[in-house]
Amino acid sequence: MKKGFFITLEGGDGCGKSTQCKMLLDFLKQNNINFIMTREPGGSEAAEEIRNIILSGNKEKWDSISETLLFSAARRSHLVDKIWPAIEQGKWVISDRFADSTMAYQGYGRGDGLLTKNDIETLYKLVAGDFKPDLTIILDMEPKEALQRVAQRGAKDRMEGMDLSFHYNLRNAFLDIAKKEPTRCAVINANQDPVNVHNDIIKVIQERLLKC
Ligand code: TYD
Repeated sequence: MKKGFFITLEGGDGCGKSTQCKMLLDFLKQNNINFIMTREPGGSEAAEEIRNIILSGNKEKWDSISETLLFSAARRSHLVDKIWPAIEQGKWVISDRFADSTMAYQGYGRGDGLLTKNDIETLYKLVAGDFKPDLTIILDMEPKEALQRVAQRGAKDRMEGMDLSFHYNLRNAFLDIAKKEPTRCAVINANQDPVNVHNDIIKVIQERLLKC
């Protein structure tokens, strides 16, 4: 059986990722594509338990090493219990965040000097081996505007409580990742009408995955 594609959506807080995931879900349904939609941190039963531990409470609760180990443990469970079996069954798997978020948030964003980017890559290899997404959509926008959207939404979680420079680091991180892996990553301007963002995403999917 032909394996399914693995597509991840990434971006800083407030970039409209959830809206785009919903629009993508509708598109896949309309096109009779057999898929599952999932998210990180979380996605499997054990990973959702870890998600609750990570995202609740004080922002100083974990240093970047502990945080990265928790995200990685959750990812391993997500891959083994959900992502890999679905891909083997020929399903497309769409994940709202994946490993690039660890590199961006814990590697570039936190900047507490405890972890190198190499450490994060090594840990990813341990968790996932050579497996990588077929396509990573990076929703890019100016952090100040993105955070205004978050403020309008109400309560902040632990990551969204970090200061503005953290969010600028994040944006640079995602752009850097895209520059290093241009065949896997596509940067989409998220500062436009959601319908236009959606159309840009579909165009990339059609060009990179469906034309092969
Ligand atoms: P979530 O409520 O899912 O936020 P979003 O809608 O922005 O995806 O919370 C996930 C938070 O966890 C988000 O701020 C990004 C962060 N995160 C990391 O710091 N490292 C990671 O590896 C992942 C997957 C997420």
